Amino acid sequence: MYVEGKTKSVTAGPEEGTVVLRTKNELTGGDAAKRATIEGIAAHKTTQAANALRYLEDCGIPTAFIKQQDETSLICAACEMIPLELVSRRFAWGSFLKREPSFSPNNGTPFRFDEIKTEIFHKDAVVVPPTVESAQQMKESEARDKFLKDGVWAPGIYTDPYVVCHEETWDLYPAKEVLAEQETPLLTIPAALSASEVAQLRNEIMIPCFEALEKAWAKVETTFGAVALADMKIEVGRRVSDGKLVLADVVDNDSWRIWPGADPTKQLDKQNFRDGHSLGQVADNYALVAELTAQFSH
Ligand SMILES: Nc1ncnc2c1ncn2[C@@H]1O[C@H](COP(=O)(O)OP(=O)(O)OP(=O)(O)O)[C@@H](O)[C@H]1O
Ligand SMILES: [Mg+2]
Repeated sequence: MYVEGKTKSVTAGPEEGTVVLRTKNELTGGDAAKRATIEGIAAHKTTQAANALRYLEDCGIPTAFIKQQDETSLICAACEMIPLELVSRRFAWGSFLKREPSFSPNNGTPFRFDEIKTEIFHKDAVVVPPTVESAQQMKESEARDKFLKDGVWAPGIYTDPYVVCHEETWDLYPAKEVLAEQETPLLTIPAALSASEVAQLRNEIMIPCFEALEKAWAKVETTFGAVALADMKIEVGRRVSDGKLVLADVVDNDSWRIWPGADPTKQLDKQNFRDGHSLGQVADNYALVAELTAQFSH
């Protein structure tokens, strides 16, 4: 087995049913329209992932994590990945505001959900006419090769579409447009998971994972106060050894928004990279976050 991703590679692990996830010195943003190589970032991300995943395992959340192998790699259970991005939010921020602008911040104060908001996005892009003859899903890498020129997408390409799950079918909507204004979905596909599996993802993985990490971050003090976990994205897979749905891939500083003192302007996560901060500053943040995640404890 060999997969060369944008930020990681996956190779067969030391034992049957395991893989080695090796992190690269790469950050990507904006559907990889933006990317940079940053020396040392792989080690910081690996430390963050090992600390976060070990902690989640200790909290009883099923993950693929087995152990850290070396400075830049983890050994994990091999999974058949489910092509979804699972997002949990305590605060309304980022692309959520594009879909639901009525939740925009009030005088800079983000809207807080009393109950964690969960959302599902599909990792395959949707491409619609006239770019293609009829609306269809396409691997994001293929869409990127065909339709991303000089950092700009051709019209009619919808990456990471928002999923509305029904029993038998899933409706896919633009992730960055007002949801209430969409008269019809971009595309309807057969449900990739049963309704009970979707409920299992939400109730046994997404929400417990968010609550556990939110609690861990709340105990971490910085010069600006305790750290608020604003939102996070995880991926899941079916563990090859037993078919169980588990949190797979990694959780690191690319996966969440973390706000010291609950102040978005103090963000320590990958958003600084998306926002164009200097790569030195971004690297310093990753080093700090690696250090802070060492405090996670059950
Ligand atoms: N436990 C696992 N078993 C098998 N594959 C895994 C596991 N964890 C992560 N992967 C896969 O590793 C690949 C490489 O990671 P990376 O994040 O760099 O990919 P990517 O280029 O960002 O593509 P993607 O959009 O799928 O994330 C991903 O396709 C991911 O699904
Ligand atoms: Mg990825």
